[in-house]
Amino acid sequence: MEYRNLYNGVKIPMLGFGVFQIPKYEEAKEAVLTALKSGYRLIDTAQAYMNEKAVGDAIRESGIPRKEIFITTKLWIQDFSYEAAIKATESSMERLGTDYIDLMLLHQPMGDYINAWKGLEKLYKDGKLKAIGMANCYPHVLSDLCETFEIRPMINQVEMHPFFQQQLNIDTMNEYNVVPEAWAPFNEGLHDFFKNPILTEIGNKYGKTAAQIALRWNIQRGVVVIPKSIHEDRIRQNFDVFDFSLTREDMDKIKAMDTGHSEIVNHFDPKWIKLLHTIKF
Ligand SMILES: NC(=O)c1ccc[n+]([C@@H]2O[C@H](COP(=O)([O-])OP(=O)(O)OC[C@H]3O[C@@H](n4cnc5c(N)ncnc54)[C@H](OP(=O)(O)O)[C@@H]3O)[C@@H](O)[C@H]2O)c1
Repeated sequence: MEYRNLYNGVKIPMLGFGVFQIPKYEEAKEAVLTALKSGYRLIDTAQAYMNEKAVGDAIRESGIPRKEIFITTKLWIQDFSYEAAIKATESSMERLGTDYIDLMLLHQPMGDYINAWKGLEKLYKDGKLKAIGMANCYPHVLSDLCETFEIRPMINQVEMHPFFQQQLNIDTMNEYNVVPEAWAPFNEGLHDFFKNPILTEIGNKYGKTAAQIALRWNIQRGVVVIPKSIHEDRIRQNFDVFDFSLTREDMDKIKAMDTGHSEIVNHFDPKWIKLLHTIKF
């Protein structure tokens, strides 16, 4: 495994396991157990995914010491106030069966995220959260937060894959020493991702799949990746990306695939923002 150091010295694995869209308890628990058995040591969940309990139970059942596993979870907009953020974090810890969380993110820079962040800062200072970060910040938002918050985010988790590369966002993160983390590293399969001719052709050189090439490309850009799968063969395949390196030429070919926009969510469309505000659980 390769790692990056967050600016506070916490070490984060470059590859983790995402559990979005696995709301069923048994399925989520089984997927996390399989991931842990395959070598993953970072699990990325969220209150909004409704599977924190399954994640916590899988971690305990795996027998792997808690301190060897990096748990990320996220607070949703409904809990964005100082008090609610603290209370919701305590609920996450209870469901996950842990007395600390390695990385807590605010899921969207929406609503009263300023005061929610102050709640996270308090929990970070108390040692309950080992690292704190944001998700879904575009560069101008991230820059504003970094200039405003007492404690800068250590991570910005955003959509990043060959079709939506977000280089300006990475440059902004580098400026503030914020580590980039890619959600949907496979574009959730859209754009016929797994059959993409460029990724497949590069993969053929190394005996790797398009999925593995996409992960390796982000890792080589210094981006932490958290692919999701419920299938054991894919879970294992997605972990098997540390025995080869892409050349400068390969990296440049992938660079040319950027479309500059998301096909999954449009944070610039008021309808999307309205929709995200309606999600409550
Ligand atoms: N912060 C945020 O707002 C945010 C948003 C979205 C996601 N996330 C996080 O990022 C993680 C990853 O993103 P994501 O789950 O949205 O999408 P993703 O990882 O880009 O894609 C997941 C899809 O790819 C398929 N897949 C996985 N590995 C494959 C392989 N080797 N070959 C072929 N198909 C494969 C999966 O199918 P099967 O499961 O059927 O194998 C699933 O349909 C999430 O689980 C979550 O933890 C965060």
